[in-house]
Amino acid sequence: MFKIAVLVSGGGTNLQSIIDSVENEYLNCSIEMVISNREKAYALERAKKKGIKTYVVSKKNCKSCLSDEILKIVDGKVDLIVLAGFLAILEGKIIQKFKNRIVNIHPSLIPAFCGKGMYGVKVHESALEYGVKVSGCTVHFVDEGTDTGPIIVQKTVPVYSSDTPEILQKRILVQEHKALPEAIKLISENKIKVQERKVVTV
Ligand code: GRF
Repeated sequence: MFKIAVLVSGGGTNLQSIIDSVENEYLNCSIEMVISNREKAYALERAKKKGIKTYVVSKKNCKSCLSDEILKIVDGKVDLIVLAGFLAILEGKIIQKFKNRIVNIHPSLIPAFCGKGMYGVKVHESALEYGVKVSGCTVHFVDEGTDTGPIIVQKTVPVYSSDTPEILQKRILVQEHKALPEAIKLISENKIKVQERKVVTV
């Protein structure tokens, strides 16, 4: 069975979409663990309700300490790490050790409105300020940069002149809940490979 670890920081609606996809057999995977960098993340409750093992990581005393702590937990235990609303940046050994085996979901059409400091409602504020007519979400592999890895799945939504950042965020979140399970399915069924910086179907 294809094993995944899900990393979270917040409410965990994306985690829930993975749990639901496993339960309704869209995904043939097992969620081995949920790891949070925030003790109070509601995502942890969602995991506990389903009997999924949870961990809270806290190391902040060196640049890659948090990532190293996570690596110790996941090493040898999972095939894929899924960042589902995980707000810390992974760095150091884990990126190499899990090359093309870490995915992240970002609530914009990368390469727009992404990179350092671009998370949460800020992404949608920037998109509205810029005046884009479409936005969306991107699932991508994680590399050494911030939101720079090869793109696996993108989904678009229209942007209306009456939108507030919060309304746009909600519209995009609906698509995130489809995009993330779709990307996990492609990887777990060996349907894609990475060529240079492009993800191609095999
Ligand atoms: C989502 O918009 C995700 O793209 C972003 O953080 C939000 C978290 O959602 N990175 P949730 O915790 O999965 O509900």
